[in-house]
Amino acid sequence: MDNLFKEVNRKKTGAIKWDYQANLDNIPFWIADSDYSSAPCVLEELQNVSKHGAYGYNGIPKEFNEAVVKWYDRRYGCKLNNDWIISSTGVILELRVLLDVLTEVGDGIILQTPVYHTFHHLINGMDRKIIENKLIKTNDTYVMDYDNLEELFKKGYKVLILCSPHNPVGRIWHYEEIEKVVMLAKKYNVFVVFDEIHSDLNITKRKFVSGGMFVNLYDNIAICNAPSKAFNLAGLHTSYIIIPNADLRKLYVERTDKEFLNHPSVFGYRSMIAAYTNGEEWINAQNEHLLNNYNYLKTYLNKELPEVIVTLLEGTYLVWLDFSYTKLTTDELLTKCSNGGVTCSGGVNFGSDYESYLRFNIACSFEQLQKGLELLVKAFKS
Ligand SMILES: Cc1ncc(COP(=O)(O)O)c(C=O)c1O
Repeated sequence: MDNLFKEVNRKKTGAIKWDYQANLDNIPFWIADSDYSSAPCVLEELQNVSKHGAYGYNGIPKEFNEAVVKWYDRRYGCKLNNDWIISSTGVILELRVLLDVLTEVGDGIILQTPVYHTFHHLINGMDRKIIENKLIKTNDTYVMDYDNLEELFKKGYKVLILCSPHNPVGRIWHYEEIEKVVMLAKKYNVFVVFDEIHSDLNITKRKFVSGGMFVNLYDNIAICNAPSKAFNLAGLHTSYIIIPNADLRKLYVERTDKEFLNHPSVFGYRSMIAAYTNGEEWINAQNEHLLNNYNYLKTYLNKELPEVIVTLLEGTYLVWLDFSYTKLTTDELLTKCSNGGVTCSGGVNFGSDYESYLRFNIACSFEQLQKGLELLVKAFKS
């Protein structure tokens, strides 16, 4: 199976990760996509679609929703209803519409920082306020601060975005951790948006716990997801949102349907159905590959740069590296990396306390990882 995760040459293909970095000769470990091909079942389906020849406006067949329901059931033991699922062209678009429906200009949205930088841009860009519920660092991992979360709920903030699995700290939240948030949200009537885009990137032996497991307890929630991270399909702009509450679903659909925002392309929706129908074995193999890459990174950095704290990785393919010993700012760290031949993501973009952190993407071949880590270590040893 490991020969599935060999490097694909993405240079000069328009890939943002490769062709839009400042130094085009660098090996990139920044933006969250993979440097190997998607699952064979997806490639085959895309060839079938491309052979057809006519690519006019397309609807989304019921098989799209059915594939999601079956995937959630099989992979996570989570029962969803077909009607709850609405297709879309991106998780950030879904969040934009949802926040528009749920909040007003000036309202606060709670983020558990450090967290995916585009959430910050989205909230600022919509003239809402970011309210930080900072994660607590414990040795090499992070937990939620429930006391602070309850304080924020008491203050009247009405929406929490819960990144699950968490980008960039790599947590796959336990059932009890999510349940605690849901119970608190229920107590204060707070809406919880689960961003589950990394749900299939899981290197633990535990099942991923979806927000959908708690619908019977509390349905003031929505779940955003897409096959784009796990199956490397971000360029095909295909996603979905799960809204169990019928009233909210109606509002959401009213905002999106007439503007044609719910229509991924035929390449997108067909690839997702193929992935969710036949891609399970490939996903399992990818998780093994990622575990192997992560173990190598951890061992290598522990040996060569022992001052760097490698955050425990449970989910996603993004490793959160604490370079505090250097006392460098994000800009200085990124410059050092770039001059050394690697492009990383900078910590401060995920939260103001994280100037001396880097996020490092390990979704590449083992050989590329080895080469990149060698360059990284050389840059920081010199
Ligand atoms: C947590 C999270 N949500 C959303 C996105 C982007 O989703 P989309 O490209 O579907 O808008 C990413 C991409 O890295 C992400 O990490």
